[in-house]
Amino acid sequence: MPEEASPCCPPAKNIILVGFMGSGKSTIGRELGQLLSYPLIDTDAVVEEEQQISISDIFSLKGEPYFRDCETAAVQKLLGDCLDHHIIATGGGLPLREENRKLLRELGYVVWLDATPDSILERTARSTNRPLLQTENPRETIESMLHERNAIYKDAAHLRLQTSGLSISETAHGILESARYFFGQS
Ligand code: S3P
Repeated sequence: MPEEASPCCPPAKNIILVGFMGSGKSTIGRELGQLLSYPLIDTDAVVEEEQQISISDIFSLKGEPYFRDCETAAVQKLLGDCLDHHIIATGGGLPLREENRKLLRELGYVVWLDATPDSILERTARSTNRPLLQTENPRETIESMLHERNAIYKDAAHLRLQTSGLSISETAHGILESARYFFGQS
C-alpha cells in the first residue's frame, strides 16, 4: 500500500528515480518528463545550485558527509515545498541514508533503475565528474559498491526495473504504466 504523505501536503504524484551512477536516471527522467509533460529535477543539480560549486569540488573541499547532508536538505526542501507532478532523478548515493529513503517514498513513486556492472562501466567510462569512480580499477569499484548498495536500493524503491536490454522508450513506458497503477491505488 502507498505510504502516507507529509501531513501538510496532499499525497504527491512524483516519480522518483534511484539507482547507481550510470544507471540511466537522467536519460529516463528526461523521457518520462516529455511523455508526461512533467518538469525534471535532478538532486545533484539542486545541490550544486544551492552550494554554488560542483559535486567534485564539494567532495574534495568539504567531504562526502557534507555532500550527504546537502542531499538530505535538498529532499527535505522538495517535500516542504509540496512538490507534485515532477520527475526527480536522484544522485546514486542519496538513498544510502535511511532517513532519505523514507523521505523519497513520501515524495511519490520510487523506481530503482537496476543495471549490470557492464552497462554502468560503459556509461560512466568517460565521465570525470563522479569522484567515487575516479579509482585505479573502476570495474572493481562498481562491483563492490553495487554489492553494498543493491539492498539499499531495494529497500528504497516501490519498483525495481532491470534496464539492461530495454530501450529508453520501453523503460519509460514500463515505469509509466506501473506508476499509473500505483497512483490509482492511492
Ligand atoms: C554519487 C552519485 C552521483 C553524485 C555523486 C555521488 C554516488 O550522482 O551524486 O558523485 O554516491 O553514487 P549520479 O548517480 O547522478 O552520477
